[in-house]
Amino acid sequence: MIRADFALRHAGQLATMMPRPDDPLGRIKDGALAAHGGRVVWIGDDRDLESQVTLDGDLLDAAGACVIPGLVDAHTHPVFAGSRADEFAERVSGVTYHAQQSGERGIARTVRATREADVSALTELAAARANRFLANGTTTIEAKTGYGLDLDHEAKSLEVIRQLAEQTRLRVIPTFLGAHTVPPGVDRRAYVRSVIDEMLPAFRPWAVFCDAWCEASAFTAAEVRAVLGRAKELGYAIRVHAAQLAPGEGPDIAAELGASSADHLEFATPSQIAALAKAGTVAVLCPGANFTTHGPRPPIEAMREAKLAIAIASDLNPGTSNSESLPLAMSLACVQWGMTPAEVLTGATVHAAHSLKLDGLVGCLRRGSYADCVVVDAESPEAIPYYVGVNRVLQTVAGGALWEPS
Ligand code: NIG
Ligand code: FE
Repeated sequence: MIRADFALRHAGQLATMMPRPDDPLGRIKDGALAAHGGRVVWIGDDRDLESQVTLDGDLLDAAGACVIPGLVDAHTHPVFAGSRADEFAERVSGVTYHAQQSGERGIARTVRATREADVSALTELAAARANRFLANGTTTIEAKTGYGLDLDHEAKSLEVIRQLAEQTRLRVIPTFLGAHTVPPGVDRRAYVRSVIDEMLPAFRPWAVFCDAWCEASAFTAAEVRAVLGRAKELGYAIRVHAAQLAPGEGPDIAAELGASSADHLEFATPSQIAALAKAGTVAVLCPGANFTTHGPRPPIEAMREAKLAIAIASDLNPGTSNSESLPLAMSLACVQWGMTPAEVLTGATVHAAHSLKLDGLVGCLRRGSYADCVVVDAESPEAIPYYVGVNRVLQTVAGGALWEPS
């Protein structure tokens, strides 16, 4: 008998996300799973559970609802203070996002508000976001800095991410995004030098990934190569904000450096997409930001043709996508871009996990994976994006225990 301290039974459809020839979602009808110490120790047909597992702990009855792995959000900016609701209102009246990135507006405005907030205020804001992630079915996020933009305030943002991981049930993977934009009033060469010479070495123990935004309004290709090249030497794994608002070299740099992810990619060319696929980089697409900035559709067909793995992310941030809902991002990717429900589900689980180097641990359910799963009021896993903008999550299980909002 297998000993368990948590079990879930009667999942009408249990999507393991371990593909089989007959089903890319590897589903089990009337499925069950058992966990011990936060890991899955048994998964299979409900009728076999009692004869194979001894349970000493909580039992959750899904009562025929769908169960999927906890969603994995591979691109979020959860450490910020302040609001840019007025900029959102301007954009719906025709002002472009690009036009808002000057002076004390746009990202610079969030930087000011974030610098003014202390660790505990920022952690409280981030913890409220963690509650919304978990309520919407996300159990793992990648969390970027990028609104501190100097040594002290980026260190503060990394401390907030550390406390977020410690204080909440969300799994949080830290990314240093000092190269988000040049902060107001600072010489750009001096800033890039400070990222490379001071911040990168100082933050190595605290961040798994290093990211940079390659864009006319942010950093040039040469600057991004310098920052990310040094980051790679120091042992960071690499992510790149690439070709979001205009064509550029971001995707080439991601491929050259063997980045874990290249993100946004609206303006990526077919040859860049082929290079990313060859490098094993994951395309992390951000439908929320695309939607609110009225961006063009990313080249989905070229990505499919190149067999480039596509992840779907919320891109939670105060400027372009103030949403913790991956199901909403999945709906947008289906409706706006013509991705299939199976593609977006794979994108918000398996491919997102791959981009975070967490293959087999999150984004799927199998023996040994974290017991992170979500009970959803939907007739099938593929029906999740069909419910647009409403939260159909009934229960979130994180690390083999029910999560309750705090
Ligand atoms: O992913 N692309 C860069 N960063 C964010 C926007 C940040 C902001 O506007 O505050 C994004 O869309
Ligand atoms: Fe972003």
